[in-house]
Amino acid sequence: MDRYLLSALAHTDHPIAAPVSPANVEKLIQRAECPPDARVLDLGCGPGEWTLRALQQYPTARAFAVDMSEEALRRAEDTARDRGLSDRVTYVRGDAREYQPPKACDLVMCVGATHAFGGLEDTLRAVGEHVAPGGTVLIGEGFWERTPDQPTLEALGASPDDFRDLASTVDAVEKAGWTPVHGHVSSPDEWDDYEWSWTGSLTRWALDHPGHPDAEAAIAAAREHRTGWLRGYRGVLGFAFLLLRRLNGSR
Ligand SMILES: C[S@@+](CC[C@H](N)C(=O)[O-])C[C@H]1O[C@@H](n2cnc3c(N)ncnc32)[C@H](O)[C@@H]1O
Repeated sequence: MDRYLLSALAHTDHPIAAPVSPANVEKLIQRAECPPDARVLDLGCGPGEWTLRALQQYPTARAFAVDMSEEALRRAEDTARDRGLSDRVTYVRGDAREYQPPKACDLVMCVGATHAFGGLEDTLRAVGEHVAPGGTVLIGEGFWERTPDQPTLEALGASPDDFRDLASTVDAVEKAGWTPVHGHVSSPDEWDDYEWSWTGSLTRWALDHPGHPDAEAAIAAAREHRTGWLRGYRGVLGFAFLLLRRLNGSR
């Protein structure tokens, strides 16, 4: 089954591809304290919900949103049109590592996509090139709530050093020249809602399209994902949203 289609179906009910409630999305964007006419950059925007929330929060802001997935960008464009925000956002299909915004941005977001840059430090280095002086970065990054066991690592296709614990993640951020001005750690409820939505919407689609050539694969993918979560990373993998500003004196 095409992985972009699978991801689009899995995110039908939870357009943000990370464990966070709509209220906490709003709070994080508000805490970025951007000017009303902010420039916003969303790297690895997926279906674009963070971008649209930022445009709703900052009424004359403009955004640039980059992703490699045609499917995700199509969905982002449709949603922007439905909410009357199309004229304030430019979608770019391409590699976030290569994108250059026309101007430095007040808010640069990279949620759940640090792997695209090769990890947290490389992401901070890359986003640093795009942030206006005094601007803010929003990073969404996994961390280990507990030391992962083998089933967890297998479910995630991860190795123990793919993530740190939360304190060490923040240490790494500071070492890279940034400091948190706010943050949010996904709660167990936010995780459960995200995972039930992911597996549930995929399963529902398959049950509603019994003759579709991908129906069986969708059920199998939902089952595999659910097993990896329930028998593996539930309560072990954490997710943190960090709003960062540059430490004085660092570049
Ligand atoms: C977990 S999703 C997060 C989407 C969005 N930030 C959110 O929180 O809803 C990661 C996204 O990164 C995109 N991505 C991965 N590598 C990329 C790259 N090199 N350039 C642009 N986008 C990339 C994927 O297509 C996917 O949409």
